[in-house]
Amino acid sequence: MVVKPNIVRTERALRSKVSSWRDAGESVALVPTMGALHEGHLHLIDLASKKADRTIVSVFVNPGQFAPKEDFSKYPRDEKSDMAKLANYDVDLVFAPSVEMIYPHDFATKVILLGPASADLEDQFRPHFFDGVATVVAKLLILCQPHMAIFGEKDYQQFLVIRQMARDLNIPVKIISGSTIREPDGLALSSRNAYLSPDERLIAPMLHAILKDVAHKVARGGEVNRVLGTAKTKLGRSGFRLDYLEARDRKTLQPLARGFTGNARLLAAAWLGKTRLIDNIALKI
Ligand code: PAF
Repeated sequence: MVVKPNIVRTERALRSKVSSWRDAGESVALVPTMGALHEGHLHLIDLASKKADRTIVSVFVNPGQFAPKEDFSKYPRDEKSDMAKLANYDVDLVFAPSVEMIYPHDFATKVILLGPASADLEDQFRPHFFDGVATVVAKLLILCQPHMAIFGEKDYQQFLVIRQMARDLNIPVKIISGSTIREPDGLALSSRNAYLSPDERLIAPMLHAILKDVAHKVARGGEVNRVLGTAKTKLGRSGFRLDYLEARDRKTLQPLARGFTGNARLLAAAWLGKTRLIDNIALKI
């Protein structure tokens, strides 16, 4: 049955709903999003509704995680279409606060991070990003009081940063990751894929194809730095402007020690025209 999700915009209404669930002994999962929902989000929502009795989806385009020159104003927003998509899922509540509710005029607090947030990956190219993400996610966790919160693996560094933050601040929540959902040609789903021109869209899957090629060559004994060097050249020749392509420790995101063997993570960010794509996969060395 298709049921329109219940949208809540105030702290009072949110807390009253969540308290009634928690008082009744029900478990609550939160899937934080910035809207523009796609199959990747819907997969996380599906996971949440299988793991918990109640599912909250938050929809909030967080100004705190965009730098002044980034795409905050043009970030896709379509609440009607998001709600229509959610109607097919087992969502108990959509929390869609206003910017003023999350950041009242006298708001003056920021979560500042170290650890995986200072790995010289996303943080090097978007220095404002993780403080903004962590601040809003801390607020969402405190407001929604979920037992668990689900984040996509496509934003792998973000997932590790949030897990670390929740642990460090003793927020009683389990941070869970959901796998990356891809187009049939391998492109990781992202709301920003909508910015790609038709020509760029044809090139975009190369990012994942090259990550897979690196993982394959390294698994067959290729020397990591040499394989990465060749892959960077290939990406450049395909039309990407690379921010980074790195093999890192999968838990700390620190560079791998010389001679490392075991499970690592391969992470990349690259521009196609004005669109920045990120992706990552497991790497076995
Ligand atoms: O991944 C996102 O969509 C955002 O960074 C998040 C976690 C919803 C915080 O605004």
